Amino acid sequence: MTVHFIGAGPGAPDLLTLRGRDLIAASPVCLYAGSLVPEAILGHCPPDARVVNTAAMDLDQIMEEIGAAHAKGQDIARLHSGDLSVWSAMGEQLRRLKAADIPFTVTPGVPSFSAAAAALGAELTLPGVTQSVVLTRTPGRASSMPPGETLTNFAATGATLAIHLSIGNLTQVITDLTPAYGADCPVAVVYRASWPDQQVIHATLATLAEAMTDNISRTALILVGRAIGAEQFDESCLYAPDYDRRYRPQTADSLWASWSHGDD
Ligand SMILES: C[S@@+](CC[C@H](N)C(=O)[O-])C[C@H]1O[C@@H](n2cnc3c(N)ncnc32)[C@H](O)[C@@H]1O
Repeated sequence: MTVHFIGAGPGAPDLLTLRGRDLIAASPVCLYAGSLVPEAILGHCPPDARVVNTAAMDLDQIMEEIGAAHAKGQDIARLHSGDLSVWSAMGEQLRRLKAADIPFTVTPGVPSFSAAAAALGAELTLPGVTQSVVLTRTPGRASSMPPGETLTNFAATGATLAIHLSIGNLTQVITDLTPAYGADCPVAVVYRASWPDQQVIHATLATLAEAMTDNISRTALILVGRAIGAEQFDESCLYAPDYDRRYRPQTADSLWASWSHGDD
C-alpha cells in the first residue's frame, strides 16, 4: 500500500501530469483538498473508488482515513492543488507517514504561479531586468511569517514577486512594495488562473487598489516586478547566432570547455 501525493495543478482539469492521472485511476481511495482541486479531476478515479474531500478534516482525521486504507492494503491518491512543494501541507503528512512506516510517492503538479504567468503570456525572468522569481506570501490568520521573510526584504532584490495567499492584504502589499519598486511598477493580479472564470487585472502599484474588482477575494496571485509586461529587455545569449555553446559549438575547444563547465 502506498500513498501517492499528486499535484493536481492550478484548476484546469487537463493541467495534470499523465503520471498523476494514471495514479488516480489506479488507486481505490482518493483524498482531495476540495477547496481548490477541481472536481473534474475526480473523473479519473475508478468508478467504485472511495473519494473523500479533506477540506473540512483535521490532520488526525486525514491520518485515520490513510490508516484505514493502509489496513486494507489500498493505495491512496492524495490530491493537493498546484504543486506539492509550496503551501500544500504535504510536509506534515509525510512526517506522520514516515513515523508510521507507510510508503509514499510524490508526483509534481503545475504550480499556480506558472499558470498565472501563462495567463499573462509572460516570462517572469527577462535578461537585463530580473533573473529571479520569489514565491512568497504575507502573514495570514493561520500562518505567521519568519522575521526575515518580509515583502520589504524581498523587494530590495528587485526580483519578480509571486505573492500567494495575500489578496486580502492588498493594501499592505502595495505599501510595502512601493518604496523599492516605485509607484509605476507593473503588477498583475491573476484570479483562478486556468479556470473558466479566470480574470486578469493589469495595473501599477499606484493604480492597483482602484483597478481591483469586488469578486476577487481569494484564489488569486499578485505578480509584481519590472518584468511584468516589459518590452525593454535584452535577448538571451541562448539563441544569439554567435554564441558559442555546447549545442552549437563554434570550435573543438569550445565544445570541450562547455562540457567541462556544465553549461546548459
Ligand atoms: C494553499 S496555496 C496553494 C498553492 C499551490 N500548492 C501551488 O502550487 O500554487 C493557495 C494559493 O495559491 C494561489 N493559487 C492557487 N491556485 C490558483 C489559481 N488557479 N490562480 C491563481 N492563484 C492560485 C493563490 O494565491 C492561493 O491563495
